Amino acid sequence: MSFTRRAFCAGLAAAPLTRPAWAQAESSRLTARAATVQLAPEGYPATEVWSYDGLLPGPQIRLQQGSRLSRRLVNDLEVPTSVHWHGIRIDNAMDGVAGLTQDAVPPGGTFDYAFELPDAGTYWYHAHTNSMEQVARGLSGALIVEESAPPDVDRDEVLMLDDWLLDPETGSFAGNFGNPMMRSHAGRMGNLVGINGRYDFSLEAQRNERLRLRLINAANARIFVLRLEGMRGWTVALDGMPLAQPEQVSAEIILAPAQRVDLIVDVTADEGTPAALLSYADDDSWQALAEVSVTGRKSRATRGAPAPLPPNPRMEVTGLADAEIRQMRMEGGAMRGMASARFEGQDMGFQQLVQRGQFWALAGQVGLGDAPFARYARGETARIRLVNDTVFPHAMHLHGMHFRTVAADGSLGPMRDTVLVMPQESAEIAFVADNPGKWLLHCHMLGHAGSGMTNWIEVA
Ligand code: C2O
Ligand code: CU
Repeated sequence: MSFTRRAFCAGLAAAPLTRPAWAQAESSRLTARAATVQLAPEGYPATEVWSYDGLLPGPQIRLQQGSRLSRRLVNDLEVPTSVHWHGIRIDNAMDGVAGLTQDAVPPGGTFDYAFELPDAGTYWYHAHTNSMEQVARGLSGALIVEESAPPDVDRDEVLMLDDWLLDPETGSFAGNFGNPMMRSHAGRMGNLVGINGRYDFSLEAQRNERLRLRLINAANARIFVLRLEGMRGWTVALDGMPLAQPEQVSAEIILAPAQRVDLIVDVTADEGTPAALLSYADDDSWQALAEVSVTGRKSRATRGAPAPLPPNPRMEVTGLADAEIRQMRMEGGAMRGMASARFEGQDMGFQQLVQRGQFWALAGQVGLGDAPFARYARGETARIRLVNDTVFPHAMHLHGMHFRTVAADGSLGPMRDTVLVMPQESAEIAFVADNPGKWLLHCHMLGHAGSGMTNWIEVA
């Protein structure tokens, strides 16, 4: 019997199910390695970065909701590393946290990441071993999980916002990644901001064109404050999770480190008039982070507000009334300090901690202690009040599960994985602890996380 072409193709399509797992993993690698890229404007030297697959940002990974992501991390760096899949409700063993969920992958080593993608949305991946240096050097990329019924837009664009601190003379990263001054203050801020590895990122669009813009803040410490110019927009998702109703953008968009926002925007500017994504700069001006050049009239008429994105599964937060509220106080940092905190099994005063390069504490604990901040039974409702008793803002991120913020009147905010808590303010988060394992709860200002602001919870 001979195979027709159709039957042969059908046979091939079924093959991955029966092939050994390594065959699949081997075909899709993610290699952490040094690379040289042009980050600074033309005329300045190129920058030696740490990259995934030689790219900055790393390759965009785009898959369908419900499918499986598998990548073999190959470590071609000279330091150990690991990959965290930020915002994914993932198996704990795949979460990529060196020292908690896996051992860091040594130079020359590999690690196979493979997991399901239960939720559609805008996510990202980044190094989670000495992140304050590795992410700043370029180890991050976008992870997009597509809805089975995507929204009605003309284009879908991923914009990874970042900043880099470069020495203009040499093009290399400036200063020391562990600089104590930066770690004890607002963090490592770049002198060059950009999108998708370019300081002069731009888009072409037509008037009345409808774009989905997926913004990801991959910066170590910078809080982006953004405005739309020449575009009318709606927020349709935050940190990957759809809003029940799109909200028209009427004020600044605040995007803290690690946060994402999905916007649907209509280009309203006429041909030749400016449209842009503007970013608030330190000198009190608004700068174009992404210029949009408007090239002509799209034949379509103006559309009304977009429909909401389809909700992700199993996301309700229930049982609030019976849940105990646990308080997690953020302490430390410049101009405030703290009396004492627990570090490596001992109580230490602030001066002792500073000598060890530790500036911050969460709930009296500096860095990962032996015991979690809290243990939850599987399915239990968790409520944590994050109290910022410092003079800096902190972007607090929970691994493994999304939460809702709880307002003072008990009403629930949108589903998120990272919440910005301003100085002397507090935020309460609530979630159903339904994903078993050890999960970090830490500040995503990575210099803060690397000098004390990292704690964890355990779900049995
Ligand atoms: Cu995006 Cu623990 O981090
Ligand atoms: Cu912080």
